Amino acid sequence: MIIEPKLILVTGGTGFIGSHTVVELLQAGHEVLVVDDLSNSRIEVLDAIAQISGKRPLFEQVDITDREALDGVFKKFHGQIEGVIHFAAKKAVGESVQFPLMYYRVNVGGTVNLLECMAGHGVESIVFSSSCTVYGQPDVIPVNESAPRKDAESPYGNTKRICEDVLRDASASSSLMVVALRYFNPIGAHASALIGELPLGTPNNLVPYITQTGIGKREQLTVHGNDYPTPDGTCIRDYIHVVDLAKAHIRALGRLLDRQQKATYEVFNIGTGSGSTVLEVIRTFEKVSGRSLNYRIGPRRAGDITQVYADTVYSNAELGWKAGLGLEEALRSAWAWEQHCQTLGL
Ligand code: UD1
Repeated sequence: MIIEPKLILVTGGTGFIGSHTVVELLQAGHEVLVVDDLSNSRIEVLDAIAQISGKRPLFEQVDITDREALDGVFKKFHGQIEGVIHFAAKKAVGESVQFPLMYYRVNVGGTVNLLECMAGHGVESIVFSSSCTVYGQPDVIPVNESAPRKDAESPYGNTKRICEDVLRDASASSSLMVVALRYFNPIGAHASALIGELPLGTPNNLVPYITQTGIGKREQLTVHGNDYPTPDGTCIRDYIHVVDLAKAHIRALGRLLDRQQKATYEVFNIGTGSGSTVLEVIRTFEKVSGRSLNYRIGPRRAGDITQVYADTVYSNAELGWKAGLGLEEALRSAWAWEQHCQTLGL
C-alpha cells in the first residue's frame, strides 16, 4: 500500500504572506499544496520558494470562489489534507470601497466555499488571516484580543470581521477548529530577498511606497497627516516582519494539529507589541538604505486611525511565539527585495 503524504493546503500561497508561510512550512517538514488563482501574484514565486527551501510545493491554479474547481482540488487530494491556512483574499481598502460586492464575494464567499469543501472532505483545522483592522481605533492601547471589535471603516475591514463570525459560528456547530490570527502591519521580506511584497500598480501601504520611492519608481512619498495626537504628529502602527508573522502560522497550525486548543475558535494578536510613527519608519529606512527619502507632509487619509499596536501577552504565552525581528531588519529586507525586483525588471 502506498502511504500518501499529509498535506497542508495554503490558499493564496503565492502572495506576500502566503509565500513566506509556505517557506516556513516546507522548512518545518510539512508537505504543502498551494491553491492560488494568481490574480495578484506571479507563478515564478513557486520557483523562488523552491530555491529557498529546496522543496517545491504542489500547486493548483484555482479561484476559491469557483466552488466546483475548489471541490475538485479537495477530491483530488481526498484524505491527504490535514489542515488549511487561508490567505486568499482581496486586501486593498480603497478598492473595497469602490467594489464592495467583489470584496464580499471573494473574501466572504470564498471563505464559505472553502469551509464547505473542508466539511465535505473531513478537513477540520483552519488558520485564518484576520486583521487588527477589526479593532478600529481601540479604546485601550496596546490592544488585547478581548477588546471589542468596532464597526469597520471599509468593506475590506468588514469582510475580515464577517469571516471571523462565519468561522466562529461554523466551529460552534461542527468539528471545525479555527485559529484566527489578527495581523498588525506586515512588512519586510525573506532574508534571501527572493520573495517579498509585490503590489500591483501604485502601492497603498507605507513600506512598499517607501522602498519604491527610494529606488526611484515613485517620485515622492506623501505622509498622510502630521497633526495626530502622537509624539511627532504622525500615525502609529505595529510593523511586524513577515517572517515572524509566517512563523506564527506554524505555531497556530501545530496547536490545531496537536489538539492543544482551549476552544474550537481562538483568536490571537500577531504583532511586535510596540508602535512606530510614520516618520520613525522613514528615518529607519533612510538609515538602513543610506538614502534620503523624498517625502512631503500631506493631508490625513480618510479612514486612518491615530494609533494601534498589539498586546502580545496572550499570543506569546499560548502560541509559544514572539516576534524576534525589529523594524531595522524588516526595512533592510524590504529594501533588499526592492533592489532584487529592480534587477528582475519588476
Ligand atoms: C491598511 C488598512 C488595514 C489593512 C492593512 C493591510 C487602511 C485605513 N487600513 O493598514 O485595514 O489591514 O492596510 O495591509 O487603509 N501612510 C503614509 N503614506 C502612504 C501610505 C501610508 O503616510 O503613502 C501611513 C498611513 O497613514 C498609516 C501608515 O502609513 O499611518 C501605515 O499605512 P498602511 O501601510 O496603508 O497600513 P494601515 O493603514 O495601517
